[in-house]
Amino acid sequence: MKIVDQDEVLSDSVQKGYCHILMLADPHFPGRIHEKKKQVLKTASTWNDIDFAAVLGDICDICGDTSEYKASLDFLKLLKKPLIPISGNHDCFFEEGFFPASPDGRTKKIKLFKDTFGLPELYREIKLPWYNLYFLSVDSLNSKYFATISDSQLKWFEEKIKQSRKPSIVFFHAPLLEEKTFRFMPALIDFVAHPHEELSRIVQENPSIIMWVSGHLHIAPENPYFFNEEATKNGKMINILNCDLNGQSIFAGATLHFEFHEKVWTRSLYLYPNKIEAKIFDHISCEWVEKWNRSYLVS
Ligand SMILES: [Fe+2]
Repeated sequence: MKIVDQDEVLSDSVQKGYCHILMLADPHFPGRIHEKKKQVLKTASTWNDIDFAAVLGDICDICGDTSEYKASLDFLKLLKKPLIPISGNHDCFFEEGFFPASPDGRTKKIKLFKDTFGLPELYREIKLPWYNLYFLSVDSLNSKYFATISDSQLKWFEEKIKQSRKPSIVFFHAPLLEEKTFRFMPALIDFVAHPHEELSRIVQENPSIIMWVSGHLHIAPENPYFFNEEATKNGKMINILNCDLNGQSIFAGATLHFEFHEKVWTRSLYLYPNKIEAKIFDHISCEWVEKWNRSYLVS
């Protein structure tokens, strides 16, 4: 398993004229459909133009204990590409039984996350020729909501983004949906990024942020809300949603009705100088699903 090297990804992107990021959302290792998860990692390893994989949190299945971290590492070793893992709620928020962990418990799980993947920090900036990328992690020790970043990470992010002079893309476990979304359905408050007010303010004050890439919702691309612009746009920022890799997704519109299934998709981002393309690969039929291609012009 190899963590992304800033200089390598920069020089490879310049050489190719674009950067290809594979998103792996909510794998919940070991979880369900083990063989299909392994096949995804082996298939992606054969794609020559991938620069790196962004593992968008909920890498562990339930509560981020040592056995789940060991399983996560064993699975991710199958991916012969550099990667950036970020933490989600199941990596550091829960104790067994889905109770929120104590600050001490969360501290231990965050240390386990860093130690397992050999990370000096949970968050980082990657500078590409045409974009700056910001990888944020769930790391609050006392938040009551599932997907919250700490005050120190928030401060780091705001300082970095103020200095960003290129179109900027945020990768975080949860989407930054508009407030009206969880006013309409209060249970959704655990399915958006927090601190919501502060993060929304930072997005409004920094127009360089053009895109927010997330998992957490377990929403299938077959669900109309996967591509719903009204539900997924926050001001001028595009929310790029990703389906989980654990075969436990929402197919039926704006509900929290999760269905078990055997389908597996991954989404890829292609960052070109003036546009971003998002494409989805169906790992059961082994083909790109053209009707789900999306292209966004970047000025
Ligand atoms: Fe999650």
